[in-house]
Amino acid sequence: MSPVRVRQHVNPLAIKYITPILPLDWQQIYTNPTQPLHLDIGCARGQFLLDMAKLEPNWNYLGLEIRSVLVEDAISTTRKLNLTNLHYLFCNVNNSLEPLLKSLSPGTLQRVTIQFPDPWFKNRHAKRRMLQPPLVAELATYLASGGMVFLQSDIEGLLLEMRDRFASHPDFTLQSLEPLLTPNPLPIATEREQTTLSRGEPVYRAIFSRR
Ligand SMILES: C[S@@+](CC[C@H](N)C(=O)[O-])C[C@H]1O[C@@H](n2cnc3c(N)ncnc32)[C@H](O)[C@@H]1O
Repeated sequence: MSPVRVRQHVNPLAIKYITPILPLDWQQIYTNPTQPLHLDIGCARGQFLLDMAKLEPNWNYLGLEIRSVLVEDAISTTRKLNLTNLHYLFCNVNNSLEPLLKSLSPGTLQRVTIQFPDPWFKNRHAKRRMLQPPLVAELATYLASGGMVFLQSDIEGLLLEMRDRFASHPDFTLQSLEPLLTPNPLPIATEREQTTLSRGEPVYRAIFSRR
C-alpha cells in the first residue's frame, strides 16, 4: 500500500458522516458473491485484509472505514493486484452497517473483526466509540449461525467494554476462555497489532461465536 497522509481521527458524530451508504450490488463487487464473507470494521489502510484475501481466495473480504482517502487508496491497490475477493467501503459503520448487511444473501457473513477500533479513550468521548449496542444487535441479526467475532485492543478497558457488549447479547457466546490475553486465531496481524507487539506491549482479545 502506498503511504497516504490523512487526519488521524475523525468524529463519527459530525454532520458530514450522518448519511448512510446505499445497499450494494454484490455481483458487481465480487467474482463469487456466494463465498463466505469476512467483514473488517475500521480497516484503516486495509493491509490486513489485503494479506488475508491473498491467503484465502475462497473467502470474500470487505473493509469498512470512515476516512475516505484511505479507502480510495486501498481500492486502487486492490485493482492493481487484480484481487476480485476484496473490497473496501467508505462509510460510518454506526449508520451504514444495517443497510449494507441487509443486502447480503442470508448466511454469507461468517466472520467479523473489530481490531483496535477507537482513539476515543476518554469517558467524555465514549459516545464516539464505534462499538455501540445497536451495532452488536445488527451483527447478531446478520452474522451466520456459528460465525465468529474477533475483537482486539491495546487498551484493556476498551476491550472489556467491547467484550461486555457482546457478552450481554443473548445471541453471542464468548469462546476465548483465557481472560483477555488469548492468542490471535487469524494468520495475519494488523498494522496496529504489529506496532503494539513490537513495543512489547500487551494486546487484549476476545472471541465470540454466533449461536
Ligand atoms: C486505530 S485504527 C485501527 C486500524 C486497523 N484495524 C488496525 O488494527 O491496524 C481504527 C480505525 O477505525 C476507523 N473508524 C473509527 N470509527 C469508525 C466508524 N464509526 N466507522 C468506520 N470506521 C471507523 C478509524 O478511522 C481508524 O482507521
